Amino acid sequence: MKKRNVGFELLIFEKLEEMTPEDQMLLRQADTALESSYSPYSNFKVGAAVLLEDGKVVLGSNQENASYPAGLCAERVAVFSAGAQFPNVPIKAIAISAASAHNFVTQPAGPCGSCRQAILEYEVKQKSPITILMKGQSGPIYKCNSIASLLPLSFDHTFLGDS
Ligand code: THU
Repeated sequence: MKKRNVGFELLIFEKLEEMTPEDQMLLRQADTALESSYSPYSNFKVGAAVLLEDGKVVLGSNQENASYPAGLCAERVAVFSAGAQFPNVPIKAIAISAASAHNFVTQPAGPCGSCRQAILEYEVKQKSPITILMKGQSGPIYKCNSIASLLPLSFDHTFLGDS
């Protein structure tokens, strides 16, 4: 038997001002995206801002539904929108901001498993890493330099053969 520890580098910032101007800008855009969250069922708002290589920013927010599973997370709304509108422009980074009407969010909310898989698809497609930035309403801000590190042993097109 062999044993391997799989880890990843997480950068933790105490405040926005410690970050690069580009990261600050994108996190502020994620805060703006929160405002369009449609979350009457959970009252948990998530905003996502995707930065493209050409500098464009595409926003998304969580969109809920009375039939709960029909709703979609902010991250997938944002990356699918970017993919649909600008299919040939690589994604440089995505910032995610979370806020709740019930519990003040004091730590970053990591993207759910389905969103990690959806973001990974674009990272694999464009063959360059996508930076992930995450914040709550207060507390630390996290930065991770690739979605692949948040999804070890991930599944991608290479398993499907010649596709
Ligand atoms: N949500 C997101 O938008 N992104 C995540 O990564 C986690 C959860 C949304 C889905 C739902 O509208 C609400 O947060 C509560 O789960």
